[in-house]
Order: sequence, then structure tokens, then C-alpha cells
Amino acid sequence: MPILKIARMGHPILAQTAKPVPDPTAPRVKQLVRNMVETMRDADGAGLAAPQVHVSRRVVIFQAPPERSLPGLGEEEAFDHMAPLTVLINPEVEILTEEMEDGWEGCLSVPGLTGVVPRYTHIRYRGYNPEGDLIEREAKGFHARVVQHEYDHLDGILYPQRMTDLSTLMFTSETRHWEEVAEGDEEE
Ligand code: NI
Repeated sequence: MPILKIARMGHPILAQTAKPVPDPTAPRVKQLVRNMVETMRDADGAGLAAPQVHVSRRVVIFQAPPERSLPGLGEEEAFDHMAPLTVLINPEVEILTEEMEDGWEGCLSVPGLTGVVPRYTHIRYRGYNPEGDLIEREAKGFHARVVQHEYDHLDGILYPQRMTDLSTLMFTSETRHWEEVAEGDEEE
């Protein structure tokens, strides 16, 4: 299966509002998702949205592995911070809190850079998988962050547009000068 070319910041497709998928179970959607998973894994990313592979449709994939959850959480609470590899077609995101938290983000469409982005700490999301099942979950922490980041791609928004302090936008290779950056350099 092919590894897809990733659009980089400045490509017009990344600034467009992606269109809904008429039939989430269509074979071409399954093919797209398979190629997106392979592309995300090859690039070592935590998430990928269809516009990033030049397809302006509302499809995202992501993974929020346990090692990214906050240490010291109980099993039940930690659950909201984790997600297995998830495919969401025509997703919706509902914000469940006014609380926002700063965290470092990267993006496969903004290679080599990272920056601090405020995101809501608690959300609910729903969307369809390629089998046509409705997936509905609550998410916190990194899990909530990655979903908001990927969802933004569907509305033509890249993380630098969500930053409130552009002095934290820097090359990943320079984060060694900033101790507090060290833990978060995942690309989404
Ligand atoms: Ni991204």
C-alpha cells in the first residue's frame, strides 16, 4: 500500500473546509483510511487528517497511547486519556469545560517545528468508523488535545493559528535549550 505525500503549511488544501463523506462504508474510504494509517505510522505521527494527504474530506485518524497519559491517574480516570488507533469519519466535537491547558504540539504538515497551544481539557466526540458504527467517547488530556488538533485540520486550521504566544514556536531541534519542552514533541 502506498505511503501518501503529506501537504505542508501553505498548500491551499490545508486551509479549506473539508467536505463530509457521503458514505463512510464506501470501499474508497476504507482504502483512504488504510493508506492514512500507513502514512501516519511511517511518519511516526500521533494523528493525521485527510486534508493532510490532499483529500478534502472529513476523515481523521489518531492514537493516544497510555505512555502519553498523565502519571498517577487511577485506571478509570486514565481511560479518558487513552485511545487505541481510532478512525473518525464526519466527526463532531463537543467542549465539556471552559478549562484550557497549554501543551506542546507538532504537526506533520509543519515539519521540524513545535509550539505551545492552549486546548480544552475535556471534550466529547463522535463520528463513524469505516464499518459504519457510531463511535462516541469522552476524552481528556492528550487524547482531547489530539482530537481537537485533528478536527481543526477539517476546518482549515493549523496549530500555529491556535497559539497565543508565538515566542514558543521553535524548531524541534532547539527544544533541548528548554527543559520543559523535552516531553512533548509528538507530531500530529
Ligand atoms: Ni496536524
